Amino acid sequence: MAGLSSKSFALLLLAMSFYINSSFAARITPHSSTEFIRKSCTATTYPKLCYTSLSIHSSAIQTSPKLLANAALNVTLSSAKSTSTMMSTLSQGHGLKPKEVSAMSDCVEELSDALDELRKSIDEMSNAKESNFGLMINDVQTWVSAAMTDESTCGDGFAGNAMNGNLKTTVRGRIVNIAQLTSNALALINNYALLHG
Ligand SMILES: *[C@@H]1O[C@H](CO)[C@@H](O)[C@H](O)[C@H]1NC(C)=O
Repeated sequence: MAGLSSKSFALLLLAMSFYINSSFAARITPHSSTEFIRKSCTATTYPKLCYTSLSIHSSAIQTSPKLLANAALNVTLSSAKSTSTMMSTLSQGHGLKPKEVSAMSDCVEELSDALDELRKSIDEMSNAKESNFGLMINDVQTWVSAAMTDESTCGDGFAGNAMNGNLKTTVRGRIVNIAQLTSNALALINNYALLHG
């Protein structure tokens, strides 16, 4: 009888230590950050893309809505940069129709505006003072929306039937991806603004 109860006691202790360990670990391991990112991403229009593009930066994001919005802008900027570089290279290639060349160079210009707007947003957010939070977030929301407009204008240039199939598919795919990343970044910025109050 005594043996059984001390055995149960030991099991109870063991169970408790597992429980304590795992709930303690949840607070300090990356798990809580990826869970925070997953939950925050439900506020975006493209939650899967949001999660896959941001969970790899969980160590920088931790559980901060501000760092999450920052990381989303970083990811968007770097994706827009590489697409812009790719398009500049493509537009110098041979075998493009004049219509394609002109759509490509218009697009590179629009992307360059979007890059400026994203860079300004990242800058402004990192230099924000508490006293001008409202002004800062307003600027950032305006610029990120403007970046979305520029990206969509670029995408429109590749919507018609005048384009070569491969080129159109490649470019449109990249632009759609950037536009979705930008839309997600804006949602996370809005969420940060809301939480900040
Ligand atoms: C965003 O990019 C900047 C510059 O590369 C970097 O210093 C910063 O840590 C990044 N922020 C996040 C949250 O990833």
